[in-house]
Order: sequence, then structure tokens, then C-alpha cells
Amino acid sequence: MSGNAWRRHPIHEREITMKCPASLRAGLFAASFALACAAHAVDVDAARALAKQNNCFKCHGVDKKGDGPAYKDVAAKYRGKANAEERLMIHLTTGEKAKFDDGHEEDHKIIKTSPPKDTEQIKNLIHWILAL
Ligand code: HEC
Repeated sequence: MSGNAWRRHPIHEREITMKCPASLRAGLFAASFALACAAHAVDVDAARALAKQNNCFKCHGVDKKGDGPAYKDVAAKYRGKANAEERLMIHLTTGEKAKFDDGHEEDHKIIKTSPPKDTEQIKNLIHWILAL
């Protein structure tokens, strides 16, 4: 099935979302599925809005490093890693120690959603970052 056929069938979006990590792991179809993830399964506007509400862009650019790494660099770091989503879920929800360039450490910001602890919204943001 061609990429275009998937794109024309919104009904497959949920399936693509679920298959994305596995496909990315498989490598062979990574390019086409990463595209599908980025363009279709991820709600980019919602992901950006959530990051904006949480002031994530204060420390992270999409392409540019700030106090924290650029999201594209985070995506590159986790490319092909099976536990990427799980790892970032922990990172964003537990306030684990974040190391800054000057060497100091502080608790990383814990993401807030409305309604609280909406895992789906956080996952959407993680998928957006990982597909950059
Ligand atoms: C006060 C600055 C600051 C804010 C605000 C901030 N971060 Fe970070 N973030 C950092 C730093 C510094 C690191 C690097 C942590 C490390 O490598 O130990 C980091 C790391 C990350 C990583 C990479 C984690 C990894 O395992 O490599 C992600 C993803 C991330 N932040 C997402 C977010 C999101 C989403 C938000 C908003 C909810 C956010 N950050 C808000 C400073 C910040």
C-alpha cells in the first residue's frame, strides 16, 4: 500500500499512531512512517499549544538549543530507540533532574494538562517531538 493511500483514509490514523514506534524501530519503513506520524497521526497544533502553555519553548527551540536541547536533537537522540516514548513520558511527568550547561541541576518541569494528567495529550506532544 502506498503512503498516499494511507493518507487518504483518516480511519487508519489511530492504527498509524499505534504502529509508529514499531515501524520506526523496524527502520526499513522509518522514513515513510515518520512522515505519516509527523503529518497525520500527530496533532501538531495541539502539541505546540501544550508546549506553549507550559513554557517549554522558554528553554527548548524546535531547531535551536536553549537551556535545554533542541527538540530536533532530542528526536535524533531517540531515533530507533524502542523505549523513547516511555523515557520521555517519565521525563515530562516525574520532575527528574535536568542537567544545565553550566553544570547545575534542577528538577525538570512537570508538564500540566487540562484536564490534569491527560496522558493522551502528553503522548501527542512526545510523538510530535520524536517525529521532528
Ligand atoms: C527551565 C528550562 C526548561 C524548561 C522550562 C523545560 N525544559 Fe526540557 N529540558 C531542560 C534541560 C536543561 C534539559 C536537559 C536535561 C538533561 O540532559 O539532563 C531538558 C530536556 C528535555 C528533553 C529531553 C529529555 C531526554 O531524555 O533527552 C525533553 C523531551 C524536554 N526537555 C521537553 C520539555 C517539555 C515538553 C517542556 C515543557 C513541559 C520542557 N522540556 C520544559 C530545560 C527545560
